[in-house]
Amino acid sequence: MAKFQSVDELVKATRPVNPVYCIREESIRTASSWFVENFPGTTLYAVKCNSNEKVLKTLFESGITNFDTASLEEIKLIRKILPEAKPFFMHTIKSKESIHEAYFNYGVRDFSFDSKFELEKILEVTNQANDLNLFLRIAISNEHAEIDLSKKFGASLGEATSLLKSAKEKASKIGISFHVGSQCMHPISYSKAIKDINILIKKTGIYPDFINVGGGFPSTYPDLYPQPLSAYINEIKKTIQSLNLPETTQLICEPGRALVAESGSTVVRVELRKKQILYINDGTYGSLFDAGTPNFIFPTRMIQIEKSFSKRLTPFSFYGPTCDGIDFMKGPFLLPNNIKEGDYIEIGQLGAYGINMRTKFNGFYSDEIHEVNDKPIMSVFEEETNSNYLVA
Ligand SMILES: Cc1ncc(COP(=O)(O)O)c(C=O)c1O
Repeated sequence: MAKFQSVDELVKATRPVNPVYCIREESIRTASSWFVENFPGTTLYAVKCNSNEKVLKTLFESGITNFDTASLEEIKLIRKILPEAKPFFMHTIKSKESIHEAYFNYGVRDFSFDSKFELEKILEVTNQANDLNLFLRIAISNEHAEIDLSKKFGASLGEATSLLKSAKEKASKIGISFHVGSQCMHPISYSKAIKDINILIKKTGIYPDFINVGGGFPSTYPDLYPQPLSAYINEIKKTIQSLNLPETTQLICEPGRALVAESGSTVVRVELRKKQILYINDGTYGSLFDAGTPNFIFPTRMIQIEKSFSKRLTPFSFYGPTCDGIDFMKGPFLLPNNIKEGDYIEIGQLGAYGINMRTKFNGFYSDEIHEVNDKPIMSVFEEETNSNYLVA
């Protein structure tokens, strides 16, 4: 990994043939510090989002010392590169082997579940351990999210009542968690979900040691312009305060996207132009998965080397490098009219669900990852600094 002052300097110096992935350490520091200072509890980082070593180490150095891991490989990675950090095993469906290894070989004590079968599995595999922190994930509406997780995960409120009672008998500590869906565009999703937890508390008389409000905190994109993050934190604080929970109740969140999205970008080269379609050298089998079917519109910027670009912007769609027809990114991506083969484009907001989505399909794979020092194309944290939205 080399270091450059800016993406432009990187491209001028290396004229890359393959896609290049850029990491901005400063942006990760800004986002982590923001969560550490403003979230009224513990912030875990969702490793799935971007598990690059530099990213993980920067998060840790900036105060994020707890990690939401979804697989044994992620747990091993955290234990290897950040031995002082604490991994939580927050996937609700785990193999028996991975639970066993996580508990006995990697010292994991925090596990999530959303069914009777998973709870039984965790207890059986750990020999009915009495030092487990068990997180029951409830199903909630994901109506304001760009990526819906509600059908795949979570116990209904009906199921959750008996699950919570069973878990309470066995757990050292008990947590209730939810996920509002990724890129959640309205803070009200968090208050609705916290109110669901309150119904569960009232029905069971069980007060959880932890309330985990999950991920879903948004980043910003050209067509997705959320309220400031502080509005989300305020909504959570306000709803929790209204519940009169015991003072010992601890809050947890586990963002991925909001911590790292703006820290990363991909530099691609145009290999061919056909009218308003650009054939570029990275695509949905590379770092641009979310630009495919999820149809995220990422911000784009031409990198000027010698020629100057027209100021008139035109909407383009992209095809990626593989032979697959679904390697298509509809956009629209706004770029200068006179763009042509050989030109370079920076595609922003790809620090989350970007490099971690790469495959080797069709033989197209790049592992060129460098650090840059310039600012992200878009930032929610810049707005936070300029807004006075936060309440004490
Ligand atoms: C359990 C869990 N926590 C946290 C996250 C991170 O979500 P986001 O990137 O939307 O913040 C995910 C994402 O899928 C998840 O499944």
